[in-house]
Amino acid sequence: MIRLARPDVGAEEAAEVAAVLESGQLTMGPKVAEFEAGLARACAVEHALVVSSGTAALHLAVLTLGLGPGDEVLVPAYTFPATANVVAQVGARPVLVDVDPRTMNLDPERAHAAVTPRTRAVIAVHLFGRPLDWETLRAAVPEEVVLVEDAAGALGARRGDRPCGGLGRLGCLSFHPRKIVTTGEGGAVTTSEPELAQRIRELRDHGIDRRGEFEIAGPGLNYRLSDILCAVGIPQLRRLEELLRERERVAAAYAARLDGLVELPGADEGDRHGRQAFIVQLDRRDDALEALRQEGIEAQIGTYALHRLAAYRGQGPFPGADLSYERALALPFHTSITEGDVERVASVLDKVVSHH
Ligand SMILES: Cc1ncc(COP(=O)(O)O)c(C=O)c1O
Repeated sequence: MIRLARPDVGAEEAAEVAAVLESGQLTMGPKVAEFEAGLARACAVEHALVVSSGTAALHLAVLTLGLGPGDEVLVPAYTFPATANVVAQVGARPVLVDVDPRTMNLDPERAHAAVTPRTRAVIAVHLFGRPLDWETLRAAVPEEVVLVEDAAGALGARRGDRPCGGLGRLGCLSFHPRKIVTTGEGGAVTTSEPELAQRIRELRDHGIDRRGEFEIAGPGLNYRLSDILCAVGIPQLRRLEELLRERERVAAAYAARLDGLVELPGADEGDRHGRQAFIVQLDRRDDALEALRQEGIEAQIGTYALHRLAAYRGQGPFPGADLSYERALALPFHTSITEGDVERVASVLDKVVSHH
């Protein structure tokens, strides 16, 4: 059995967690601040606020911007549904925009065409860790339209020399187990604006302003991340460069073996791919999925075409999202994948592709 994903956690994480348990301070303690400082450094921003999931991070981002009924937010038609769900949850309208089927990221020209006087923001996803063409998107929409980064899978990725997760007014990270740094469940919002950071700090903590006398100026939620979970993330964040290099090793092994057989994932010249997942594209994707699973190899589709889900039906057509949804295949991808594993996966794909 070759697993699709496997978190790279062990003795160091266990020791950090044990220390938190012994300290007796399980939440709102020093590990939160330590993890946040590391995240802010990694994303080259002033503030990182940890929360209970990537979805919580996105939810707080749209709440902090005051988005609601009457507002439109552009989101890619091909993404994990949370990107659009949070927009709908605050009563704003998620306007789906097609993706470029080659990069599987939002197509800036189509974003430009989707702008109306109601457009308030774009949630720009670096899908599977591939940095989005940020400058072209920024130029494609009016200046007053806020760019929020869904960098759920892009911690460690770079657009030119700028870290993803630090490109937008707000950035959102996820620490779900299929991400490069995991806490089991978890996320963070990044920003360099102190007012936004303070609002997020309050919103994740019932609305409480803890700077002076106890006060709640506006209603909040409990989206805090415990010290126990921050302790799981801290050692991995310290090893972020090493974890990314290991993933690059596996990606290079796949690329060498699969070149010419399937379409390989890539990044723009000068960018560093975040390697959240290893997603190839091929015509007989469903046959490949079945053949891999029969050989004891876990594989999966890429992600979802939102206009095919009941919640988002009625918009479209989105041929780029359709192609991506039908052709993308996630191969087993984690730091313990061996050359032998790559060969086993590739030999199955060889058969599927050559067997017309
Ligand atoms: C692009 C994208 N956005 C948002 C999320 C939501 O993150 P989480 O699972 O931590 O809530 C994910 C991951 O699952 C994702 O891949």
